[in-house]
Amino acid sequence: MAGTVVVGTQWGDEGKGKVVDVLAPRAAMVVRYQGGNNAGHTLVVAGHKTVLHLVPSGILHPGTLCVVGNGVVLDPVVILREFDALAAAGRHLTPEDLVISSRAQVILPWHRELDRLREQARGGDAIGTTGKGIGPCYEDKAARRGIRVGDLVDPERFRARVSALLPEKNRMITEWFGGEPLTLDRVVSELAPLAERLRPHVRDTVALLHQAVRGGQELLFEGAQGTFLDIDHGTYPFVTSSNTVAGAACAGSGVGPSVLTHVVGIAKAYTTRVGWGPFPTECEDAVGDHLRSVGQEYGSTTGRPRRCGWFDAALLRTSVMLNGLTHIALTKLDVLSGLPTVRICVGYRGHVGLPDDLGVAEPLYEDMPGWVEDLTGCRSFDELPATCQAYVKRLEQLVGVEAGLISVGPGRAQTIVRDPLFLG
Ligand code: IMP
Repeated sequence: MAGTVVVGTQWGDEGKGKVVDVLAPRAAMVVRYQGGNNAGHTLVVAGHKTVLHLVPSGILHPGTLCVVGNGVVLDPVVILREFDALAAAGRHLTPEDLVISSRAQVILPWHRELDRLREQARGGDAIGTTGKGIGPCYEDKAARRGIRVGDLVDPERFRARVSALLPEKNRMITEWFGGEPLTLDRVVSELAPLAERLRPHVRDTVALLHQAVRGGQELLFEGAQGTFLDIDHGTYPFVTSSNTVAGAACAGSGVGPSVLTHVVGIAKAYTTRVGWGPFPTECEDAVGDHLRSVGQEYGSTTGRPRRCGWFDAALLRTSVMLNGLTHIALTKLDVLSGLPTVRICVGYRGHVGLPDDLGVAEPLYEDMPGWVEDLTGCRSFDELPATCQAYVKRLEQLVGVEAGLISVGPGRAQTIVRDPLFLG
C-alpha cells in the first residue's frame, strides 16, 4: 500500500471515515488533500462522539501523522475547535500528530459571509452549499488573491494582506449584498491568537511526504465529498469547488501519480445527496423515509436531512473510470433490510453511459427481492441472506469491480472483509 487514495464514489457521505480507520494503522501518514470543513465525519473518542471536519480521520491512531495538505481550505476557527474537542477527550495534539501545509488556503471571515449572502441572493437557484465559505475561498485561490497558512502565521504579512484585500471584500459585502463591513482590526485581532496556536504545526508538507516515500513508508490519502460533487466531473453547477476525484490527491498534496498504488472507492448500498442538484434515483416516498431514518441520513456538518434513493450502477461505473478505482468498499448494506423490493438503476434510457444532463435523464431499473434479516451480525459473505448476496453480486456485475469490503453497521467489527487490502 505505498499510496492509497480513499474517495467517495457518489455525492459524499458514503462512510469514508470507517474505511480510512481500517486502513490507517498501516499508514505512516494520513493526508487530506482537498475540501475543507464542508466535510464531516463522526468519531467516537474515549466514549465521546466527536464530529471532525478538518482533522483527518487517522488522528486516533497513535504513531500516524495527520497531514492537512496544500489543496485544503482551512478555517482556523474550526480546526482549533477540533483540537479543543480532542483535548477534552484526552487527545492533546502536538506537531508530531498533525501538520498543516504552509500552502493551504485560509478561510477568512469574508468567505463565510459571502457564501451566506450569495446563497441568499440566489434564492430559488441556490446550490445548497454548507455555508462554510468553501467556494469563496477557492475563488480567491484561483484569482490569486488568497491568503495562505504561511501568510497567516507571519503577523506582519498577514496584516498587510488583509489590509490590501479588505476594501474590495467590503465593497462586495455592502454594495452587492447589503451586508455589514468588516474592519481590519477585527479581522486581525480575531485571527492573531489562532495563528499563534497553529504556527507550531505549519510545515513544508511536500518535503515531509517525499521523505516518507523515499523511506518506503505507506501513505493514505483521505478524500472529502464525492465524485459527483467534483467541480469538473460532477453535476455542475450543483457541486463543490474542488476536484474530488482521486487524481486530486496528487496536486492537493504534492506527490506524483506514480506514488499511488491503490484507489479505493466508497459506495453506499443506496444513494444519498445533500443540497440541490439532479438526483435521478431519489425516492420521495416511504422508501426514502426508510433509508433516511434507518441510515440516519442527516448531514454531519449542517444537520440537514439527506435526500435518499436507489443505488445507481451507471453512476458507479462512471466513478470507476473517473477515479481509476482498483477497489470498492460497499457501505450501509444493513440499512436495506426490511424493504420488500430493492431496485438498482442499471442505466438511462437512450444512453450507453451516464447522460451529460442528469436533470432530464430517465433511469432504467431492475427490481430484486429484498430481505428482512438483520445484517449487523454478519461477518462473512456466506452469512448474508441469499437475496442480499444476489443484490451485491448484481451490483458488482454492473459496476465491474468486486466489493472488497462490505460494511454492515457503524462499528469497526461490523465489516465483511473479502479483499486482503482491508485486513486490519
Ligand atoms: P460547498 O462545498 O459548501 O460549497 O457545497 C456545495 C455542495 O456540495 C452542496 O450541495 C453541499 O451540500 C455539498 N457538499 C459539500 N461537502 C459535502 C460533504 O462532505 N458531503 C456531502 N455533500 C457535501
